[in-house]
Amino acid sequence: MRNIKNIIVVGSGKGGVGKSTVSTNLAICLSQKKFKVGLLDADIYGPSIPKMLKINEKPKISKEKKILPFEKYGIRSMSIGNLIDEEKPIIWRGAMVVRALNQMLTDIAWGELDFLIIDLPPGTGDIQLSLSQSLSISGAVVVTTPQDISLIDVRKAINMFKRVNVEITGIIENMSFLKQGNKKIYIFGKDGGLNESKKQKIPFLGQIPILPEITTHSDLGKPVATDKKSESFLVYDKVINNFLKYLKKDSKSNNTKITFE
Ligand SMILES: Nc1ncnc2c1ncn2[C@@H]1O[C@H](COP(=O)(O)OP(=O)(O)OP(=O)(O)O)[C@@H](O)[C@H]1O
Ligand SMILES: [Mg+2]
Repeated sequence: MRNIKNIIVVGSGKGGVGKSTVSTNLAICLSQKKFKVGLLDADIYGPSIPKMLKINEKPKISKEKKILPFEKYGIRSMSIGNLIDEEKPIIWRGAMVVRALNQMLTDIAWGELDFLIIDLPPGTGDIQLSLSQSLSISGAVVVTTPQDISLIDVRKAINMFKRVNVEITGIIENMSFLKQGNKKIYIFGKDGGLNESKKQKIPFLGQIPILPEITTHSDLGKPVATDKKSESFLVYDKVINNFLKYLKKDSKSNNTKITFE
């Protein structure tokens, strides 16, 4: 882990808000900015990165008995889904999951990385808490949709990160609206994530609209951020620029390990 400059966790209290999609596309956007990026799918109960990146095989093992991450779309990646049988973790208890994840973290030969993005499982239970405590995290990114039901859980996630002294780099509001011509339709309510970030005094990293191309590309195993000409790429790129801005700001105040200037 000494070769990893910044560990970033992506969390949300609630499931299905787009955490894995955001983690994957942001990782690819970061790599397009010439950072060395790793993506770790720590969602032991529902790993989705193998599908999103279309990587279904088991990893190769190095001579030193380390797991070699996959390399695709400019990022290194590993998912719990590539390492264990699908049915197994469902019966695992919290402590076993944490042990498996910690082992996975030390056993993967990431090489030099500017960023390791960790897609956390949804929720704010033991797993998320222990992982956040045991890793030296540079920042957490919290993903939410605008509606109350998601915001309630996001507050829990924010409190969890605060409790273990993990700096929250920012909030991303996903599925903010659907565009119909020039009109925006606020299916899940308007500005819920933005207002929450103001209330909590946490930087707001941006709104990501509902874009059908995001879903179709994910399902095809070729995340939309790989297409620099797409509307989605521009949206994610803006979010990433904000993320880098706020991460840098943090680094000045508390001397974290950010060294990309
Ligand atoms: N902005 C968006 N526009 C359109 N579709 C989206 C968007 N964000 C996510 N999706 C789609 O929503 C679904 C859920 O997203 P995703 O799997 O990333 O959520 P998650 O928070 O990781 O879920 P889980 O809690 O199960 O891990 C996926 O089918 C994804 O393609
Ligand atoms: Mg997910």
